Amino acid sequence: PPPSHNAVVVRSLLTTTSMEREQILRDIEYNIFAFPAALVTCDFLTDSGTSAMTDIQWAAVMRGDESYGRNSGYYCLLDAFRDIFERGDTQERIYRDVLAGTADADFYRKKCLKAYEGGFVNGGSVQLSRPNFFIVPQGRCAESLLFSSMKETLVGQSSENVTQPVIISNGFFDTTGAHAAVAGLERQTFLQPGLSDPFPEELIGKRNFFKGNLDIAAAEEFLRKHGDRVALILITITNNFAAGQPVSMANIRQTAAIAKRYRIPLFFDACRFAENAKFIQDFEEGFSTYSIGKIVQEIFSYVDGFTISLKKDGLANMGGALCFRDQGLFTHKFSGHKDKIPIGELIKEHQILCYGNDSYGGMSGRDLMAAAVGLYEVTKESYLRNRISQVQSFAQKLHASGIPVLLPPGGHAIYLDMDGFFDGCDRAPEEFASVGFTIELLRDYGIRAWEAGPFAWEWDKKTTTERKNILNLVRFAVPRNSMTDHQINYTIAAILQLHAKRHTIPGVKIIRGAESRLRHFQSGFALV
Ligand code: F0G
Repeated sequence: PPPSHNAVVVRSLLTTTSMEREQILRDIEYNIFAFPAALVTCDFLTDSGTSAMTDIQWAAVMRGDESYGRNSGYYCLLDAFRDIFERGDTQERIYRDVLAGTADADFYRKKCLKAYEGGFVNGGSVQLSRPNFFIVPQGRCAESLLFSSMKETLVGQSSENVTQPVIISNGFFDTTGAHAAVAGLERQTFLQPGLSDPFPEELIGKRNFFKGNLDIAAAEEFLRKHGDRVALILITITNNFAAGQPVSMANIRQTAAIAKRYRIPLFFDACRFAENAKFIQDFEEGFSTYSIGKIVQEIFSYVDGFTISLKKDGLANMGGALCFRDQGLFTHKFSGHKDKIPIGELIKEHQILCYGNDSYGGMSGRDLMAAAVGLYEVTKESYLRNRISQVQSFAQKLHASGIPVLLPPGGHAIYLDMDGFFDGCDRAPEEFASVGFTIELLRDYGIRAWEAGPFAWEWDKKTTTERKNILNLVRFAVPRNSMTDHQINYTIAAILQLHAKRHTIPGVKIIRGAESRLRHFQSGFALV
């Protein structure tokens, strides 16, 4: 596709040697999360909060307002959510008044009208009586608010013999799963089979199997037996647990139908909603003539609420939100708290205790502006076309060079298939050789990637059956608008060199933090 943007600001990188990086790696016990970013040449650790913002976002940052109660950015974000997730309108009309400085008393009076009632974002006085939109610093805070409040409500509803409530999902991101566990909710993951099935190279960019889908048959079977215990169905778009694979509209519709049948609220973890919409436009029959705005509108018409990290498809460096449909199924289902506090008020109470007043929720007014504008920027078709095709060409070039990579790639990252990479080397999963690979990549080339395999998914702590579901992957997440093809080509060359000497790549032994939750952030290693 034709390029969608120019770089207008650049940051020079430090030149470092592998010796210098080796010394630091030793001092930090080879935990790549603890490695100083300033010494990394290509950082593929995450696509979260690492995007380069657009000039319009930076202009909006200058218009940010740091007032404690109802700063201007709050109204912009409310409008952006209504436009993008309810109206299918990606035309960035409303925040322009604030950007241009033409917003006057009439502009703000209108924002306070009761007319802004219903949907995911109550406004005006309704916002006070029926809060349903919650700003938080990032996605995981939204998860924590949602699950802890749900659990509190469920415990409040019946005092004795409470069986463990369940959340069904196509895939929990690690913090999402951990928050559910901390809140005492059981997780059931039903991912459509076939994630690592071969996919013909010539079909990349032409077809997609939507490998992130919920396994509808398995979910239904569980619901038939345990439907009364299921508190929520959570669909992650795109499915980061499953290598960033998209979910089809058909699958969302089917999920919504079973959720309705069993009267279970359906939520999205919507971190990468725009990428998912682009996959639907490109690959799902019947959607090629739909605008991204219309696809997003339909996707969100099926759910009762969603959590979102605006650090991904908000194109922002910070931000998140939780919202649910005004007076929808979620509100009704979770309205029986023992103190009769409606779920919205309960969440708001937690929000204020942990993050602050509802009109900033732990975000600065400037970050709110950046995220509000980011939602319009990220739904532009030219941007999405470039974004998805950059990741696709990364995967395609690796595959063409003989490196096993999961195909087709998802929206935000490519995943090396490390069992294939180490083919002929006879490496046992508990050697964690893929962690060794990420360490060598960082030391020798200054490239940071993340092991999403036996170490991260705790192979050593799992049962034989659970182990079967753990793929041995290394993720290269591509930050938005910031990576050039030069960086990607350099990375491909480095991977090829390491592949050529894969027999020499060490495994690792965990010497610290093996037992901690989310241990990849906390562990120390020795090379073996
Ligand atoms: N849900 C999904 C699907 C995610 O990918 C993430 C974060 C979160 C929730 C949590 O959001 O970071 O804003 O608190 N994923 C990042 C990653 C960190 O690297 O994949 P957060």
